[in-house]
Amino acid sequence: MGASEWYIGLMSGTSLDGVDAVLAAFPSGAPMQVRGHVHGPLPEALRHELLALNARGDDELHRAALAANGIAEVYATAVRTLLVQTGCDAAAVRAIGAHGQTVRHRPGEFDGVGYTCQLLNGALLAERCGIDVVCDLRSRDVAAGGQGAPLVPAFHAARFGRPGEALAVLNIGGIANLSLLHADGRVGGFDCGPGNALMDLWCQRQRGLAFDDDGRWSATGAVHPALLAHWLAEPYFERAPPKSTGRDLFTAAWLDAGLATYPRLEPSDVQATLTELTARCAASALQRHAAATTRLLVCGGGALNGHLMRRLAALLPDVTVGSTADAGLPPLQVEAAAFAWLAQAFVERRPGNRPEVTGARSPRLLGALYPAA
Ligand SMILES: Nc1ncnc2c1ncn2[C@@H]1O[C@H](COP(=O)(O)OP(=O)(O)OP(=O)(O)O)[C@@H](O)[C@H]1O
Ligand SMILES: [Mg+2]
Repeated sequence: MGASEWYIGLMSGTSLDGVDAVLAAFPSGAPMQVRGHVHGPLPEALRHELLALNARGDDELHRAALAANGIAEVYATAVRTLLVQTGCDAAAVRAIGAHGQTVRHRPGEFDGVGYTCQLLNGALLAERCGIDVVCDLRSRDVAAGGQGAPLVPAFHAARFGRPGEALAVLNIGGIANLSLLHADGRVGGFDCGPGNALMDLWCQRQRGLAFDDDGRWSATGAVHPALLAHWLAEPYFERAPPKSTGRDLFTAAWLDAGLATYPRLEPSDVQATLTELTARCAASALQRHAAATTRLLVCGGGALNGHLMRRLAALLPDVTVGSTADAGLPPLQVEAAAFAWLAQAFVERRPGNRPEVTGARSPRLLGALYPAA
């Protein structure tokens, strides 16, 4: 492998659980390689501030600028750890593809262009790492009339697609997104609904735990059909793609509005209902938009939720449901690898978006470059 072919991908998603960093290479005509993966935690104060910045508040410009510095420091630490762990020299890394932390996602709204906002001080990250940084990967697609999301279907297609086979990739992060890899080579994709964000919120509120490990708590509860129906009536689920969403919609207030309608439920029943909601949104979206799918590969932290995985398999009896690990890439590495792949696309001046997914007018080069020196 040549000295300049390694890329680092950095992804911190809406779960706000920290950053995943992978060191990967995508040689043309050969399988991609992942040389290492680290997960860097978010300091609690920064996590709280990022969560707060998802909603209107005081002195937002100042606070967002400092949070963007904070994210850059967390990313830089993850990069350093990754380089030490893999024995890779910074000079051997061609570029970093860094997502940043989404705090608002409103493409197409307000003035018709709208915006998507991923906090990250790319200049500071380049300064700390001495590696080219490609970031702000979503804005150009939004400027071209697209959703700016999801961006990963192109990577999913490159990594997991098999000609003649209809498969789908479901990333269950804070929000869940589906990539539809049709047998004829067409690629689709959209955010299908909540992933872990609401389950995490409820688990934190009720049990003081970051998440429901393996879905064990939700498995002890019973789904409340009326509450599930109330949540499933959310108009977003019926909207036709292209579409994307975030914590702007699936907020604590969204959760509480449902709970107010059905007060005094057992907390474990609420957790079971939230888990079912995530599973049902994904399963119905798949049945509606890619009924011929025979195989579903799940990635993101949700792939580690055994109860959720069993519910998905039960709702999709004609589909083989498994984790992306079955296809050679562990679930927590997939999204970070996608951003390494997007960095390579930028470096090679190839478009990173799929207009048929995001709704952009046409393919665009995605990202802004902060050179190493
Ligand atoms: N062992 C586990 N059991 C159940 N859930 C888990 C487990 N491990 C992780 N998770 C869930 O996965 C979440 C983290 O997933 P992930 O990092 O994929 O989300 P994300 O950061 O929002 O990513 P993205 O936005 O890129 O999809 C955690 O917040 C938690 O809810
Ligand atoms: Mg994460």
